[in-house]
Amino acid sequence: MAAELMPGAPVAEAVFADLEPRITKLIESGHRPGLATVLVGDDDASAGYIRMKQKRAEEIGFSSPHVHLPNDATQADVVAAVRSFNDDPAVDAMLVQHPTPPQIDYWGAVLEVDPDKDVDGLHPLNMGRLAIGEPGPVPCTPAGIEALLAFYDVPVAGRDVVILGRGTTLGRPLALLLSQKRPSANAAVTVVHTGVPDWADHTRRAEIVVAAAGVPGILQPEHIRPGAVVVGGGVRYEGRRLLPDVDEACEAVAGKITPRVGGVGPTTIAMLFRNAVEAAERRAARR
Ligand SMILES: NC(=O)c1ccc[n+]([C@@H]2O[C@H](COP(=O)([O-])OP(=O)(O)OC[C@H]3O[C@@H](n4cnc5c(N)ncnc54)[C@H](OP(=O)(O)O)[C@@H]3O)[C@@H](O)[C@H]2O)c1
Repeated sequence: MAAELMPGAPVAEAVFADLEPRITKLIESGHRPGLATVLVGDDDASAGYIRMKQKRAEEIGFSSPHVHLPNDATQADVVAAVRSFNDDPAVDAMLVQHPTPPQIDYWGAVLEVDPDKDVDGLHPLNMGRLAIGEPGPVPCTPAGIEALLAFYDVPVAGRDVVILGRGTTLGRPLALLLSQKRPSANAAVTVVHTGVPDWADHTRRAEIVVAAAGVPGILQPEHIRPGAVVVGGGVRYEGRRLLPDVDEACEAVAGKITPRVGGVGPTTIAMLFRNAVEAAERRAARR
């Protein structure tokens, strides 16, 4: 029997439905939320992401100031753009679009972002908050995956979750998040990677598998147990073509699975705006 699909759009809609009255309240109190973006270079996919974020920002009442730096921008140019948004009272939240050209130290730029405006939740201070269980912006894709599992009534607490990939934006923070002591987390989390050649021994026993490797088709039906819940987070782009980590044949074995397109992507955007609204609410409360 084919797996039940878990598309991200209804999850994202539910998140935006919660955010809308909060945004209205902010605007009525004279605080229009602002989400700023910094793009370096001319990568098509990155420019597309920025356009999508700006469009959504405008639809829901945000301002969306943007700096687009040329491909040969220096680290000092990026730092100057970040600092100007740190100092801008109209900006509640910001991000530096990843990837950046090779001469740019992306993590050096993230370190410059005011942690209170760090909408991606990737600043070391916010990653540290996640590690010690303090509130703060949580990286968007992991937060979206937790929300997606909750939305589709997938029990997580006490279950065996295996994450394929220990990357900084997805696998590692997701492991921190799903092992926290909360009803929608509280899982037994295992993280596998290239250092674990027999990683499939782990994914095969998992009740929930999250693919977070960025290796197209790495997760095959023989790597999962029948009825398992499968979440596809990792993707690679070849031009405009999106190549997911999860092979489509997994749909015949899994119990529930994210669709190849429109799975965790929409939930990531929703969590980005949730972080931005929370940042705006914090700043509005301090006024
Ligand atoms: N859909 C979204 O909105 C969204 C958002 C963020 C990220 N992503 C995607 O999520 C993926 C992960 O991103 P990231 O930044 O967290 O990670 P990353 O830095 O790209 O790291 C990938 C991880 O996968 C592991 N891996 C790669 N090939 C493997 C193999 N053959 N066998 C076992 N493990 C393997 C790597 O192991 P080692 O550590 O041993 O090298 C590493 O831990 C990427 O595809 C990214 O595009 C999607």
